[in-house]
Amino acid sequence: MNINLVSILINLKFAKVKKGAESVRVAFRCGKQIPLVYIHGSGFDGSVWLRQLEEVGGYAIDLPCHGLSDKAIINTVEDYAFYVAKATEKLIGKAFFAGHSLGGAIAQTLYLNFRSIVNGLILIGTGARLRVLPQILDELRSKPEEAINIFINYSFGMGIELRSLIEETKKLLLERKEILLKDLLICDKFDLLEDLKSEKIKVNVPTLIIVGEKDRLTPVKYSQFFHSIITSSKLYIIKEAGHMVMIEKPEEFNKILSEFITHSFH
Ligand code: COA
Repeated sequence: MNINLVSILINLKFAKVKKGAESVRVAFRCGKQIPLVYIHGSGFDGSVWLRQLEEVGGYAIDLPCHGLSDKAIINTVEDYAFYVAKATEKLIGKAFFAGHSLGGAIAQTLYLNFRSIVNGLILIGTGARLRVLPQILDELRSKPEEAINIFINYSFGMGIELRSLIEETKKLLLERKEILLKDLLICDKFDLLEDLKSEKIKVNVPTLIIVGEKDRLTPVKYSQFFHSIITSSKLYIIKEAGHMVMIEKPEEFNKILSEFITHSFH
């Protein structure tokens, strides 16, 4: 497999979002037009969803400051959720939101702050709290190459089969080390764990949870927690996959996703 994560452009669409004095162009990479929005994780962009766009359809957003979207002032998960919500409202309307890692935190926040546009949630390699290893945060500032090596080693479950992709991902993240650090600091502050445990927050939309068996960044335990508190959620643990489960096991992943989406539409 040899995917150029930067240059993949399927059909592109843009939505302009205003916030105060800022006007931000938000990019979506589009497959078959079904109301399903994919939200990528820290440092990546919508091209990580190539196989899903091709085989399932939907829209993969490039978050502000990533990929083909404009820069914006972003300090929290809520800031990202605002741009995702407004851009989705403009282009698609109500949708299912499939979020990976940081993207999953954004999907949860969309449910909290913009419930009227959320048909359902797909939580992929994510958690209700996303603390980050202090070593990764420290070394991203002082020794970025080493930090990215650790991050990548933690990201892929089956390194050898995906060697060329891993090398490309390293290069990409090194070029984006500032935004990667910013995203990981935002993840580190994200925490809905106690609110979900105490049922202060209750999730009442169809929810699919997918995680790689070997995920070391957001361990299976985090997904099992979601499954235990979200009534009627479905949990799939994909064997021999790590944190980048949608890239590592696309056939299995897409089958689960398609079944969930088809079932939820009828
Ligand atoms: N869902 C369910 N349980 C969670 C959780 C989640 N999203 N996040 C944390 N917890 C649990 C932990 O398993 C732990 O339970 P335990 O006491 O029974 O072992 C407890 O809450 C406290 O964990 P945490 O808040 O993470 O603090 P910590 O000091 O134990 O660990 C880290 C801090 C950074 C070492 C740890 O979070 C970690 O290994 N994180 C994964 C690696 C990483 O950097 N991920 C990046 C995510 S983007």
